[in-house]
Order: sequence, then structure tokens, then C-alpha cells
Amino acid sequence: MSTGVLVITGAGGVGKTTLSAALAVTAARRGLRTCVITVDPARRLADALGIDSLGNHPTEVGEQPGLAAAMLDVTASWEAMVHRHADPETAERLLADPFFRALADRFPAAQAYAAGEQMAEHIESHRWDLLVVDTPPAGGGLDFYTAPGRMKEVIGGRLLRWLTGASIPGRRALYKVTARPALKLADTVLGGPLLEEIAVFLMDLRSLYDGLSRRASAIELHLQRATSIVVATAEPTPLREARRFFEELEATAGRPETVVFNKQLPAGWTDTTSLRSPDLAQDVRLAARENLSNWASEVRRQHDVKQEFAARYKLNLVDVPWAEDAPTSVDALADLVAGSVDLLRHLPTAT
Ligand SMILES: Nc1ncnc2c1ncn2[C@@H]1O[C@H](COP(=O)(O)OP(=O)(O)O)[C@@H](O)[C@H]1O
Ligand SMILES: [Mg+2]
Repeated sequence: MSTGVLVITGAGGVGKTTLSAALAVTAARRGLRTCVITVDPARRLADALGIDSLGNHPTEVGEQPGLAAAMLDVTASWEAMVHRHADPETAERLLADPFFRALADRFPAAQAYAAGEQMAEHIESHRWDLLVVDTPPAGGGLDFYTAPGRMKEVIGGRLLRWLTGASIPGRRALYKVTARPALKLADTVLGGPLLEEIAVFLMDLRSLYDGLSRRASAIELHLQRATSIVVATAEPTPLREARRFFEELEATAGRPETVVFNKQLPAGWTDTTSLRSPDLAQDVRLAARENLSNWASEVRRQHDVKQEFAARYKLNLVDVPWAEDAPTSVDALADLVAGSVDLLRHLPTAT
């Protein structure tokens, strides 16, 4: 069986990590060998999954047979990437290079790209029936989709080609003979080894290009085949972010077809007939009725907002209810999505 992939994306705080874990628990309970790669789980969720001290390497979740979890470790991912794509000497130099560190730590897409690499690794290991990927929040989740392309641009792009020359080996030799002494001289004048270091760094970075661009293309392909699910809530900010998703990913294959509205109030709150009961004191009845009718109009507003959103982008609409206690155990996670049939439909069927 090939690995099914669910990518859970959306703005920060909407419940991506929670729903990733909930879907993964449910899949494992259906007999699928499941791995969830998670980003920044809230403390108690991490405890529930026993992923307190996890890194890129998946570890079995003690509470849930058949489920493994990993936590994205960006630094470790970048180190592994450099070792994969550069010769040992270049790899060592790059990893010790402060410019490279800055690129890996501060380039906004770097975390998103590392998550894509992890996803590809897990898919290609063929260890899992289902991989659930909780995406990093960079760019409201969009970076995860655009990072592979951007990575190719940054490392293979015009600026770097212009700085380092079109073909690396010849240029490198040339640079050793000609440019280097000139840069050394300039650095002597400037009083530090700055230019020479930058030149070495750019050259080393460029040497990653072939391997990295092939890899980035593989990640793009995995993304096209994956099922993407956008999580939102019916509040203005998450909705705006979700809108960006469907507008900016319009042309990209792998565009999500499902939107989940998380933390939804019970639809039954629009029904206020119980308040007409003669058993209630008049003043209690009035106060409660006003309170409930406010909630009822909020539920109606959310309903309209969701319908309009789903219709506009031709999406399947799924509700996940608001839970009074945020789920912090595998049972509570499974319960949270148990009623969301159209969401669970995306899980592969166990063989
Ligand atoms: N359906 C829900 N009902 C109640 N609380 C929820 C629900 N989904 C998520 N939460 C809570 O909302 C907060 C944000 O969720 P989280 O999964 O960390 O979001 P994200 O990963 O998108 O940033 C957490 O405290 C989580 O426990
Ligand atoms: Mg999260």
C-alpha cells in the first residue's frame, strides 16, 4: 500500500496541530500504520502524545498503538539536507558558516522547506499507510506550498548565478586563481575577511543546487498528490488567511478541496423555544432569552459566512465542534472529529 498523505494547513491558532493529531489517532484506530509530523504542539497535547522531547525521528505514541509522531526539527533537517547534497568537506564548511546559519534560521521559507523535506522522507520510507503533516505557520501556511519553488529560485536563481557564474566547477577554479587574491586584497583594505567569506559561502551554496532542486521538485510532486485540508474558524482573521489560500494557490495543483471550520458553536443554539417554559421565573427567562438569542444570531452569522466561503471557492465544508475542554488525551482527540464524517472520508481505507 502506498502512503496516503494529509496536509493540514491554515492560519496560526485555528487548530491545525489539534486536528492533525485527532485525524492521526482516528486513522491508527482504524488499523492504518500512521505517522503525524507536528509543529509546536501545545504543552498538554505534547504530553498526551508523549512527544515532549521528539525530533525528526518518529517515535511510537505509547497511548495509541499503530501511531507514531515526530516533531519538526528545522536545524536537524537542514543539516541532513546539506549532508545529502554536498560533499563532506563543503557540508562541514557550510554548516559552520554564519551566513548559512542565518539563511536556515531566518529565511522565512526555511522552516516550511524543512517540513517539506521531512514529508518527502517519510513518504519515501514506505513505512506508513498514512502520513499526517501539520504545517508550519509561516506565511499563514502558504509557505509550505511555495517553499520548494522559492528554494530553487534562491539557490539557482539569477542573483546567485550572477555572483558565482553559470557553471560551478570551472568558475570555482577560475575564482581560486583570479578572484580570490583580489577579494583577499579588498578584505585587507576593509580590515576583515568579509568578502572572501561571502564568496566561499555563495560558491558552496551554489554547489547544493543540483541536488536541492531535484529534491524540491520531488516535494512539489508529493504535494500535488497529497490531500490538503485548510483549517479556519469563522472569525475574520482566519477567514482572510484562508481566502488567501484559495486565491494564491489557484493555479497550483494540490489546491485544497476541503475547508474545515473548527471550534464551531452547536447549531442547536439557534433554537430558543425552551425559554418559553412557564417553569422559569420571568426575569431569568428574559435574561437567558436575550443571552441565547445573541448566541443564536452568532451561530446564524457563522453559518452564512461558511456557506458563502465554501460556495465561492467550490469547497467541501466540514464542521468540527468547539470543545469545552481542549482535547489533551488520545480519546478526547478521537472524539473531537468522530462526528465530522466528511473529514474522516479523507482517511485511506485500511486493507
Ligand atoms: N475544536 C476545538 N475546541 C476547543 N479548543 C480547541 C479546538 N481545536 C483546537 N483547540 C485549542 O485551540 C488552541 C490552538 O490549537 P492548535 O491546534 O495549537 O492550533 P494551531 O496548530 O493551528 O496553531 C489550543 O489551545 C487547542 O487546544
Ligand atoms: Mg500548531
